[in-house]
Amino acid sequence: MSVDVLLGLQWGDEGKGKIVDVLAGNYDIIARFQGGPNAGHTLEFDGIKHVLHTIPSGIFHKNAINVVGNGVVIDPIIFKNEIDALNKMGVNLITKLLLSKKAHLILPTHKILDAASEKSKGKSKIGSTLKGIGPTYMDKTGRNGLRVGDINSPEFKSRYNKLVSKHSKLLGNDFIGFDLEKLEKDWFDGIDVLKSFKHIDSEHYLHNAQKNGKKILAEGAQGTLLDIDFGSYPFVTSSNTISAGACTGLGIAPNKIGDIFGIFKAYCTRVGSGPFPTELFDEVGEFIGKKGNEFGATTGRKRRCGWLDLPALKYAIALNGVTKLMMMKADVLSDLENIKVCTHYNYNGELIDYLPFEASEDTIVPVYKEFAAWKEDLTQLSSIDDAPSQLIDYIDFLEKELETPILVVSVGPDRTQTLNR
Ligand code: GDP
Ligand code: IMO
Ligand code: MG
Repeated sequence: MSVDVLLGLQWGDEGKGKIVDVLAGNYDIIARFQGGPNAGHTLEFDGIKHVLHTIPSGIFHKNAINVVGNGVVIDPIIFKNEIDALNKMGVNLITKLLLSKKAHLILPTHKILDAASEKSKGKSKIGSTLKGIGPTYMDKTGRNGLRVGDINSPEFKSRYNKLVSKHSKLLGNDFIGFDLEKLEKDWFDGIDVLKSFKHIDSEHYLHNAQKNGKKILAEGAQGTLLDIDFGSYPFVTSSNTISAGACTGLGIAPNKIGDIFGIFKAYCTRVGSGPFPTELFDEVGEFIGKKGNEFGATTGRKRRCGWLDLPALKYAIALNGVTKLMMMKADVLSDLENIKVCTHYNYNGELIDYLPFEASEDTIVPVYKEFAAWKEDLTQLSSIDDAPSQLIDYIDFLEKELETPILVVSVGPDRTQTLNR
């Protein structure tokens, strides 16, 4: 059985959590493949709103097994908080959540390093979520990291101390003022919670599951334009967020990948620094931000808002090999005067339809096509057949331009506000 992948095509927060939850009933296993608690995946159903950071978004389904893959980085403190919150909701986790032994651990000092790095960059800071993501992946590639499978080793504490001492040398004066003792107490409490879960060789587990005909969905975090290689570097995260990341982050061979579901908002948002060619600085941007409740699910920061960017979206579709598209938050655009879509960039006087290396506000000017907006409230729609003609025109135009079918149109945060085409 092949493995399907679901991932974001923009700068994150496209609505991945909602759609994984919607699709989870069709799968036996949901597996996160990269990122860590920089992610905030929101699910809404039965009047409950829940945000997940480390745990895959299939956790609310009765039978789905949820796997945290080797490509993920785990903060034991945040993990424990997530488990506590789910336990309170009566979610049975012990049999449903499996952790890769190869997933790396975020130490308290990784978070301090993250903050120090941002401080030293001053105005050109990345706008990191400060969850220690960059420093943890640096220790992974630097071959210094600690992994879930190390927790039960008798040398775990001494290896932890060695890494902390390395970090404290790197930090120098930036280490002063932190209550490491308190942070460590919480961290080791989190390690105890991690210990209570089953640690697996997740690549073998997933290979066997495939052989036995199990259906697997790989859940991405962040978005394609935040990819370490192909995103707007250096304003990116520290992992491969694209479909190739599902191969390295779970041990799935490329020829075993089935459908690749690409999620995008009917407009665009970005949180943190970095180029955003179609960003709006006017009342329309404010309207979208307010109506779309565009505040980060992890940090609460206000998200920057702008129009849909087709050159960027085409780039993302090509990088991922997207087979099916899902358009989110169509309801947010109701009631606007008109809707714009960037079809090209004016790049040093030349019209181009791709993202150049030097993509920034100074080098590229978006060229827009205007659409009539729909006035109807979409949130109560139960069938795409009842959608206003302006929305249908918008979807038809995008499908043609993107040469990929739009399978789902989302018209609200709830599970049920999901229209199939
Ligand atoms: P993720 O990181 O990709 O899982 O997305 P987030 O959860 O960070 O952000 C998406 C936000 O939009 C969440 O607050 C969702 O509840 C909400 N959302 C998802 N789909 C829709 C939709 O179709 N319409 C509206 N209005 N909100 C949505
Ligand atoms: P989900 O999975 C949106 C952004 C940060 C920052 C940059 C680097 O919820 O879509 P990092 O903490 O990784 O060092 O931050 O990436 N970022 C996200 N933006 N959604 C996310 O995850 C993000 N994870 C990281 O804002 O600009
Ligand atoms: Mg999010």
